[in-house]
Amino acid sequence: MELIIASQNQNKLVEFKKILGDKINLFSLSEIGLNQEIPENEKTIKKNAMFKAKFVNIQTGKNVFADDTGLEIDSLNGEPGVYSARYSGVKRNSDKNIELVLTKLKNKSNRNSRFKTIISLILDGKSVNFEGVVEGKITEEKRGNNGFGYDPIFQPNGYASTFGEMSLKEKNKISHRSIAINKMVQYLKENNLL
Ligand code: IMP
Repeated sequence: MELIIASQNQNKLVEFKKILGDKINLFSLSEIGLNQEIPENEKTIKKNAMFKAKFVNIQTGKNVFADDTGLEIDSLNGEPGVYSARYSGVKRNSDKNIELVLTKLKNKSNRNSRFKTIISLILDGKSVNFEGVVEGKITEEKRGNNGFGYDPIFQPNGYASTFGEMSLKEKNKISHRSIAINKMVQYLKENNLL
């Protein structure tokens, strides 16, 4: 089956393609000639994901899914959360975002956090959401150069490595995004679409 993924984020595209393999024929926005940036102004991760999917579905009339992800840190009252991409004020500047998180967590002993992904799927006009959560800790300093975003400071519970120190294959086995996407795959199978 064919699905459009409502994202311009190349890192996410790579992850999605790797997780989905050839089960789904995935088209990125640039592949269908939609090059405008989709607004992400909602107040929750779920609303952002739903908005992005709807935005592309209205423009193309095609089946589409969008994901929105946030890093929630307990001792920062759930920040950066829905503001994860622009936490430092500079949109998608991961170095600055990481720096700000580490500064705010200086001397804080509770470093519990989680990545949360919501995937919003619009299939034949019907909207369904899938959630993926991975619990972990924010490290004292950056470790590893793999992945993207906050990966170098997120150490999933039960693992000695940060996401930044893991290969994409290792990250995809346990990540928030793969949990959500596997739920979507399950849903498509149950509905005889895969
Ligand atoms: P988005 O709005 O879903 O694109 O994601 C918001 C921000 O969360 C991104 O700009 C990244 O900084 C961060 N983020 C999303 N997914 C991940 C991930 O898998 N690892 C690390 N950071 C991520």
